[in-house]
Amino acid sequence: MGRKRVTSGMRPTGGMHLGNLLGALENWVRLQDDYDCFFFIVDWHALTTPGGGTAVGYENVGDLRNRVREIAVDWIAAGLDPGKCSIFIQSHVPEVAELHLLFSMITPLGWLERNPAYRDMVQSYRIESPSYGLLGYPTLQAADILAYKGDYVPVGKDQEAHVNMTRDLGQRFNSLYGKKVFPITETLLTPVPRVPGLDGVDRKMSKSSGNYIAVSDSSEETVAKIRSMYTDPVKIRKDDPGHPDGCVVFAFHNIYNKPEASIVRGECENGGRGCVACKAQLAAAMNGALMPIREKRRELEGNPAVIGEILSAGALKAEKIAAETLREVRDAMNLPRRGDF
Ligand code: TRP
Ligand code: SF4
Repeated sequence: MGRKRVTSGMRPTGGMHLGNLLGALENWVRLQDDYDCFFFIVDWHALTTPGGGTAVGYENVGDLRNRVREIAVDWIAAGLDPGKCSIFIQSHVPEVAELHLLFSMITPLGWLERNPAYRDMVQSYRIESPSYGLLGYPTLQAADILAYKGDYVPVGKDQEAHVNMTRDLGQRFNSLYGKKVFPITETLLTPVPRVPGLDGVDRKMSKSSGNYIAVSDSSEETVAKIRSMYTDPVKIRKDDPGHPDGCVVFAFHNIYNKPEASIVRGECENGGRGCVACKAQLAAAMNGALMPIREKRRELEGNPAVIGEILSAGALKAEKIAAETLREVRDAMNLPRRGDF
């Protein structure tokens, strides 16, 4: 009792890359000590878009289970501890679907049509005929958060509009039915390093751009990807002076080799360091940092029953809370109780 609740979810687009690890997971791992945390893999949200190619969606569900499993393995390997937080699959808590239905009655269409993420998704995935479910994406996200009465939602800037809509919907519910069922949900914006893609410091690491290093990549794959990283194009020979600020390798030295980053900068700028050696040094630091996660991953992959148990236990804990919330919601809306009359 008394601890504030944190809720967050991730779409099962496949295993995590360094952007997800540094931008979300490491933060979640810290939060689990101070808050009552609910972390879920949003398999229903994966069905809001058609998918195709390697992307899972309602027209392409073949890989959905595998993608969910990969994320679960990554989360636990990266340090989410089922003894401290609830880790589960969205669709294992059917109360969330019921809450989504009830919220859909009180969500003004205008809120959904104005949602910038909706427009972005329709454009970037070139969706010709967006579905009812896609338009309702934020309502489902609100149900994810409010089924557990989430106080805080640790997400990036791109998700802020969804969290604001969640808060507005919760407050709309409270005022319509005159009961304080839902808290005032807030985004928990935490400083996280900017994680560029392999192809340029101004590009974001993302699954869809293919410019990522996956947590599940081997050390050899990591070395090869670092070799392919975009560096300073005017630094051709080893002793040419370079410009670290435009170089992806340097951006990662700043994350994985922080104590030596200023030395790297100095040597790059004065022509005292070649890119080949610079990349090899980064690869060693990055592989060293990722080694424990990768080992834990391998261990879990060899023992999938453990993952199943963790996700079931997480769903059980989550469903207890959600069931309690739904009782309050049904009562507030004056829906008849089973067995009454
Ligand atoms: N929309 C989020 C994303 O794309 C994923 C998500 C679904 C989520 N439900 C959530 C995030 C609830 C936080 C809380 O990243
Ligand atoms: Fe980038 Fe390192 Fe080459 Fe400088 S020496 S341009 S920091 S890879």
